[in-house]
Amino acid sequence: MARPVSELRAAARRRLPRLLFDYIDGGSYDEITLRRNVDDLKAIALRQRVMTDISGLSMATTLFGQEMSMPLALAPVGFAGMYARRGEVQAARAAQAAQVPFCLSTLSICGLEEVVGGSGAPVWFQLYMVRDRGFCKNLIERAKAAGCPVLLLTVDLPIAGARYRDLRSGMSGPTGMKGACMRAWQGATHPRWLWNVQLRGGPHRFGNIPPEVIGEAGLGAFAGWIKNNFDPTVTWKDLEWVRSHWDGPIVIKGLLDPVDARDALAAGADGIVVSNHGGRQLDGVLSGIAALPAILDEVGGRVPVLMDGGVRSGLDVLRVLATGAQGCLVGKAWAYALGAGGGQGVSEMLATFKAELEVAMSLTGCTDLNKAGRDLLAL
Ligand code: GLV
Repeated sequence: MARPVSELRAAARRRLPRLLFDYIDGGSYDEITLRRNVDDLKAIALRQRVMTDISGLSMATTLFGQEMSMPLALAPVGFAGMYARRGEVQAARAAQAAQVPFCLSTLSICGLEEVVGGSGAPVWFQLYMVRDRGFCKNLIERAKAAGCPVLLLTVDLPIAGARYRDLRSGMSGPTGMKGACMRAWQGATHPRWLWNVQLRGGPHRFGNIPPEVIGEAGLGAFAGWIKNNFDPTVTWKDLEWVRSHWDGPIVIKGLLDPVDARDALAAGADGIVVSNHGGRQLDGVLSGIAALPAILDEVGGRVPVLMDGGVRSGLDVLRVLATGAQGCLVGKAWAYALGAGGGQGVSEMLATFKAELEVAMSLTGCTDLNKAGRDLLAL
């Protein structure tokens, strides 16, 4: 039987150096929002129904013109090429095999062309607005040339929230000799990862960011690069600029407030991802699932609304859809799975989600996920 996410997480914790596990697993400040994402979803009670004809379950849907076997996509996750050898390629292949979209982060290790070439399928591409518009334009053009059907514009990171775990684990601190010794020790005590990923999986630099943009310091320069390059002046007006370079759907990721959803629609967004960046930005804000209903009311069905944050099972997917979203993004779950077992781990995770969804649909009497709604909830 395919392992549930909790077991994949435990396996990733054993197999990965602590700094990588903590980077995936952690959130910002006191990690209150990180926990809320999970707890609020789990608190939603599904309504059990029996003796309904469940012979023909349909999970398939179409979002932004793309057919998918289940209404979920693998969320953009930075550094995934460090969790397994050429990790983003492996994960994109697993997503392609399961017919769900894979969204590549700007901060991936494998570059867009490597991921698309290696998985044999177009991927969604996630973009950050940085000061250097030439860099953004170049990325958009690469995404177009690679046949990406959807551009996800992440808008909740004009400044990075402090992730205290990263400061302690060796990821972004401590600096100097102490940090170097810590990292070396973590590598030495995870020999399988050291051999498979660190020694044989290079190059380990950000594949979407040319060395002349980030500097030769490579991965170590990540935190400084965000601080110095993310554009604090960005407003909804800048969506016009993105639109002038990109013809396909633009999905705005990182909204929690209905006023922002209204503004996003007015600026021409083709879709919205309700998200608090996996609890990694402003700690104390609402969970994605708690923020979802007001945004759905504001959007009123004009564009698809997806949610991310805390989705760890197929049951959670049904909870999100029953609340009214058209789909969800899954981030931490696939990163754990990749750390636990490479591309096979991601396939395993997707198989688990599918099996869990099947049970959840059957026992709520929901035969078509496109029709999932509040009647599936025990309110
Ligand atoms: C970047 O997107 C991060 O959350 O680390």
